[in-house]
Amino acid sequence: MDNLQSEMYTEFDKDPTAITAFIRWLAETYHLPQPLHVLDIGCGPGRMLAEYHKLGWRITGMEPDPDFHQSASETISEIPDSRLYKGGFGDIDFENEMHLITAINNPFSYLLDVPSRLDALARVYKALTPGGVFFLEVTNFLYKLQHFEPVTVQNKEIDGETVLHVMENHFDVENARWVLRDQYVVEGKPEVIVKEHEQAVTALPELLYFFEQQGFTSIQTYNSYTARQSEPITGKTILISAQKPTNDG
Ligand SMILES: C[S@@+](CC[C@H](N)C(=O)[O-])C[C@H]1O[C@@H](n2cnc3c(N)ncnc32)[C@H](O)[C@@H]1O
Repeated sequence: MDNLQSEMYTEFDKDPTAITAFIRWLAETYHLPQPLHVLDIGCGPGRMLAEYHKLGWRITGMEPDPDFHQSASETISEIPDSRLYKGGFGDIDFENEMHLITAINNPFSYLLDVPSRLDALARVYKALTPGGVFFLEVTNFLYKLQHFEPVTVQNKEIDGETVLHVMENHFDVENARWVLRDQYVVEGKPEVIVKEHEQAVTALPELLYFFEQQGFTSIQTYNSYTARQSEPITGKTILISAQKPTNDG
């Protein structure tokens, strides 16, 4: 394993089938043109880049983490007419270019203060074509606080070995941040991969207000990737889709 962080992430967050079906439905629902140009921001090792390629879409990926970026560059090297940039929300610098921008499995939560979240939404809005759609997945940390578990453990057989994924949760009350310590342990081996993630606790009303202030319309919320209509948020995940008006640009 050359890049353990990426390989472990890929093993534990593997199957994107339901996400792909949902994103495809979203593109149809908002009547996006085909084949569309998608930007996957915070693309990690690039699982969605490969999925979007299967849909025949033109792909741009962006990822700030060097290990994930390295893995994503291997994924994208096999995809013609695709681009990958090293960077995050603060580096998005496109104008009227993307029909769809996706931020799946929490990239937005890494924006720890309000100015960087507002800057991100402004950049996303500018990068979208008129009528283009932004799709965001963030953890509903308020729900997770209500059901707080200091430690959760998953385990999986990988190449005949048992790998434990231990997630330790801390809550920084003063700064409204969630600190997740991710550890991957191969049973019986000394090697431990540890990565700490500090994420912003952003409440849904604040997010919706920011979206509206930025100019987004047709804002919809969903609890899961099986949803096929807007619904009130009740669980641990917040999914939001929103459109740049067609008369903007
Ligand atoms: C849990 S991973 C999700 C990866 C990928 N979207 C997926 O669904 O497989 C969260 C990603 O957000 C990225 N990230 C961290 N800070 C970011 C930022 N400021 N802008 C965009 N992405 C960021 C991380 O490096 C990581 O790849």
